[in-house]
Amino acid sequence: MNILEIKDLVKDFGGLRAVDSLSLSIEEGEILGLIGPNGAGKSTAFNCIAGVYPPTGGEIYFAGEKINRSKPWNLCKKGLARTFQIVKPFSSKSVLYNVMVGSFATTDKTSVAEEKALKVLKLLQFEDKKDERAGNLTIAERKRLEIARALATEPKLLLFDEVMAGLRPAEVDEMVQIIQNLRHQGITIFVIEHIMRAIMALSDRIVVIHFGSKIAEGSPQEVASDENVIKAYLGDEYVVS
Ligand SMILES: Nc1ncnc2c1ncn2[C@@H]1O[C@H](COP(=O)(O)OP(=O)(O)OP(=O)(O)O)[C@@H](O)[C@H]1O
Ligand SMILES: [Mg+2]
Repeated sequence: MNILEIKDLVKDFGGLRAVDSLSLSIEEGEILGLIGPNGAGKSTAFNCIAGVYPPTGGEIYFAGEKINRSKPWNLCKKGLARTFQIVKPFSSKSVLYNVMVGSFATTDKTSVAEEKALKVLKLLQFEDKKDERAGNLTIAERKRLEIARALATEPKLLLFDEVMAGLRPAEVDEMVQIIQNLRHQGITIFVIEHIMRAIMALSDRIVVIHFGSKIAEGSPQEVASDENVIKAYLGDEYVVS
């Protein structure tokens, strides 16, 4: 079953068409990668899916239900969560507090929210930081907190917007491992990433967009050897081994 289906999605900002007739679908349990040059419309597409921006046109279905114009909070309760490219935790609050903000999507009880948050922190091997102020975290730790917060909402589909940007190679490898573990827990993942090594290792399929439109779709090997993708994004020096 397709957990997410987008048909002819369009998003205009004034005269600028940021997403242009984009159609794609994600099967339950899949990891789908979304790549493309800076400004291609990747984050905008995520923002439309997650209810941050109302689409200008097209249709978005989540688990078979049309969700155009649904609000982020309602989508979150239905099981669609996202991380933001710019990570903004409550800096003066603890890691645990920040993750509990996510847990409150599915419970009103503080004790239950805390229990769920602790479970997520354990899963991400992040429990030792639970009392740390979020403002004191390193970039890698903030990214992990952002994932924890999204995960605490108990999503069926998780949208990751560049959770690996700014990480060192060893931290990237760790993040790839974390995301693979999440998939094994039954969570479907839609991931935007510029780090090719990571997106190639993670994705079952990759969709490539350029100026808001899809220019290629297929296995990591297929898109990496696609001439249009090399021209628009990867550059001539990118060679598939
Ligand atoms: N809120 C907004 N108002 C006006 N224009 C916007 C807005 N958000 C994005 N844009 C424009 O829409 C286009 C797509 O931007 P978007 O952030 O979706 O690209 P992206 O593929 O995520 O790029 P990057 O890889 O740099 O994160 C860009 O030209 C951008 O300037
Ligand atoms: Mg972006």
